[in-house]
Amino acid sequence: MIVILLGPPGAGKGTQAGAIAEKYRIPHISTGDIFRANLKEGSPLGLEARRYMEAGALVPDDLVVRLVGDRLDAPDAAGGALLDGFPRTVAQAEALAGYLARKGRQEDHCLCLEVPDGELVKRLAGRRMCRDCGAGFHVDFSPPPADGRCAKCGGQIHQRADDQEATVLNRLKVYHEQTSPLADWYGRRGLLRRIDGQGSVAEIQSRILAALGA
Ligand code: AP5
Repeated sequence: MIVILLGPPGAGKGTQAGAIAEKYRIPHISTGDIFRANLKEGSPLGLEARRYMEAGALVPDDLVVRLVGDRLDAPDAAGGALLDGFPRTVAQAEALAGYLARKGRQEDHCLCLEVPDGELVKRLAGRRMCRDCGAGFHVDFSPPPADGRCAKCGGQIHQRADDQEATVLNRLKVYHEQTSPLADWYGRRGLLRRIDGQGSVAEIQSRILAALGA
């Protein structure tokens, strides 16, 4: 099963992804996480992606499409995948559809998490992450340990460089201009389910699983 998780920055895609991936036993593929892991390693891909990410802009389509194609070719994605943060432009969506068609596969669901911009800014301003394992926290809703160390792995808790307010505002602008048209694109193909992304994490998870027919 190929599930696309669409939604603006801070909508809760990463927060919800683990439970969906676990339920359907499919890998969670987050392009943002892949870029951040490459950046941490100092790989050429990470260094290339950094200048776009830190400005809140999109990494060029050809780079992202190649990366996701390679990832979907891995054996653990043979039975499907949960795509988080990809596609993000109509060109990426077309490339994904073409790639899947060539493999005799297709997208099964596109879930769009909907949250108003004001709430997104609050969520992103308060987000904190573990530098090592990527565990997510929020200063108000899910506070990180007081000693600044991750409870799971002992890594350092930090704020993502692209969660500074000016960058967040640009990421939202980019989302509205380049990514939100994808909802209609998948809607025309009968794959879109809009999910209210406000409420508790558990409530939203129930809405998602219901939309997937679980
Ligand atoms: P990426 O890492 O994909 O970032 P994003 O889409 O901007 O999404 P976020 O990770 O910011 O938010 P999220 O929806 O996962 O929210 P989360 O669950 O963390 O991409 C980063 C960059 O990489 C892009 O800007 C771009 O440069 C590049 N990139 C990536 N993919 C690309 C592509 N396909 N093409 C081109 N470039 C690409 O939640 C946010 C906060 O809210 C957390 O603190 C969380 O605890 C809290 N929260 C979650 N749910 C709730 C709730 N129900 N109530 C209250 N708080 C909540």
